[in-house]
Amino acid sequence: MVDTEVTQRVEQLRKELNYHNYRYHALDDPVISDAEYDRMMVELGELEARYPELITPESPTQRVGAAPAAGFTEVEHSSAMLSLANAFDLEELHAWYRRVKNLLEDAEFDMVCELKIDGLAVSLIYEEGHLVLGATRGDGYRGEEVTQNLRTVKSIPLVLLGEPPPRLEVRGEVYIPLESFRRLNEERMARGEPLYANPRNTGAGSIRQLDSRITATRNMEIFVYSLVSIADGANPDNHWESLHRLKGLGFRLNPHNVLCQTLEEVEDFYDRWLEERHQLPYHTDGVVVKVNPLPYQQSLGYAGREPRWAIAYKFPAEQTITRLIDIGVNVGRTGSLNPYAILEPVNVSGVTLKMATLRNEEDIHRKDIRIGDWVTVERAGEVIPQVVGPVVERRTGEERAFEMPDRCPVCGTGVVKSTEEAMHRCPNTACPAQFFELLRHFVSRGAMNIEGLGERWCRALIDVGLVKGVADLYYLDKEQLLQLERMGDKLATNILDNIEESKSRPLARIISALGIFHVGSEMAGLLTRHFPSIDELVKATEEQLTAIPGVGPKIATSIVAYFLVKENLHTIDRMRAAGVVLAQEPKALEKRELPLAGVTFCLTGSLSSMSRPDAETRIKELGGAATSSVTRRTTYLVAGEGLGSKLEDARRLETKILDEEQFLQILATPERAAS
Ligand code: IVH
Repeated sequence: MVDTEVTQRVEQLRKELNYHNYRYHALDDPVISDAEYDRMMVELGELEARYPELITPESPTQRVGAAPAAGFTEVEHSSAMLSLANAFDLEELHAWYRRVKNLLEDAEFDMVCELKIDGLAVSLIYEEGHLVLGATRGDGYRGEEVTQNLRTVKSIPLVLLGEPPPRLEVRGEVYIPLESFRRLNEERMARGEPLYANPRNTGAGSIRQLDSRITATRNMEIFVYSLVSIADGANPDNHWESLHRLKGLGFRLNPHNVLCQTLEEVEDFYDRWLEERHQLPYHTDGVVVKVNPLPYQQSLGYAGREPRWAIAYKFPAEQTITRLIDIGVNVGRTGSLNPYAILEPVNVSGVTLKMATLRNEEDIHRKDIRIGDWVTVERAGEVIPQVVGPVVERRTGEERAFEMPDRCPVCGTGVVKSTEEAMHRCPNTACPAQFFELLRHFVSRGAMNIEGLGERWCRALIDVGLVKGVADLYYLDKEQLLQLERMGDKLATNILDNIEESKSRPLARIISALGIFHVGSEMAGLLTRHFPSIDELVKATEEQLTAIPGVGPKIATSIVAYFLVKENLHTIDRMRAAGVVLAQEPKALEKRELPLAGVTFCLTGSLSSMSRPDAETRIKELGGAATSSVTRRTTYLVAGEGLGSKLEDARRLETKILDEEQFLQILATPERAAS
């Protein structure tokens, strides 16, 4: 028993530390010295070490992260996390403003300007003032639960200040400050490790770390930019006010946010940051302009996945000039031949560029880009750097024009040129380049996530002929894996376990893993909301597909074409036969929350009202398990007509025996069965 004096002191310390944390991180206005803060932290740490029963996950001492998690769970967002439409120049900004003004029938409105932070969007949910859930954006509808990692971000309050509402959801951008990024890379350099390319991806990777202790070392920060819902009835009536409400609760807002009355003021804000953005301690790629009054936001609504009430007015991409040493061609996983620029290494805002995309042959000729040219290259935020065009004035006459090879550089098959897409393709679907890329995509994190099967092993499996199609993965055994040079017993077991585990990936992952042209993870997610099993998708017609908002004719044609190929259907059949689950899990409920979770049935004999497979499906839908023999773990033996030896097993093991009627009763009211 801890005496009350200690408990009170612990609470007192936490309260003060939380407050000073807020002064420091959210307000950037500390009122005590670092040394005083550290002293309190040490005292709290010592008390918690002595009385570990007092430790709670939201204690300020717990921001150091915890032991690795096994994986992330998916969470459904209460409302979709959408993206913003972009304006790339003044004209587009004006067009947006005019449209809004029109839709609002000329009403007057003010606007909030915020810096657009180039980080990772997260959603935070608080209940009774306590952080209960943090999630990534994911595909906009479902993200990953990363609460443990977000707890390490010091500017995310673990406990809210003031009088928090019963429930609150906020969204914001988490990022790595440039200084932390620079330090991180310095350390990597000192250890001889490869450097991280940019803060944005490194930040995203840090939040999706299974080991939150690593996240804790990244010194990440947050700027909160929207209040999604507040459950106390006192809803603010404009965005500006909602932001200030959030500030009062302890959230960190970007101090440069401003309220503008006119479009001129918006332009001034943009111009100022266009100049000064490089002095900021984080990356910003534009200004987000939001209509301030919330009723107006509501009436403007959304166009597809973008709100009409906001726009991202982007800063121009960063450009530089360098030499184009050569043009290489690689073969993508869909067989496209992609030319790329090999550049004399050059630095663009802290990133060394060695390569850039050139899109396709037509583009190269249209821009008259020649090998040996000095070229302008551009890095536009997240986009892969591009060659904008040649600096014609610097030509010497030594430059030579580029020609696409007429044979696939990997398998030598004659290249086909598709005029419609301005694209060269290798038509051989068995081309190793295509299959290697497909396999790599299939096992990758965002698809089937088969850990351990890195690039090298994918290559090896193809080279020795063990894997010719993705379904072959599910038929590998240990002996075969051990044939691979330098494959160890432990890794082989690990890979096989991970392959096994991948059989129950959500349907959307599987669909995106197949590598259907134009179907990425977001599209796959959308498709599964309309076709809950792969069989239904296989049967879908172009009309049915294009009837789904967001699915255009190009995508529909590609899906239908994919399922017309015999080999592809064969792949699906073989995956199914190996036990890959090709249908959506019932609803969004977690398995363990279903009414028959933990209940195991053994069915024997025949039932008069349904077939055995149907009965088993129904049991599984309700979260239960169905087995074919009676063991100690069997909860019920369902005895149909003509039962046999299993009845004896059940009696011996004292398993409850149900007749058909009792079984149907359980299916009808499964909640009661678990007790
Ligand atoms: S508002 C309905 N405000 O930009 C969309 N977004 O393309 C609400 N972002 O995913 C977003 N800074 O991750 C908003 N001040 C800001 C932002 C911001 C960065 C990101 C956000 C979003 C993306 C939109």
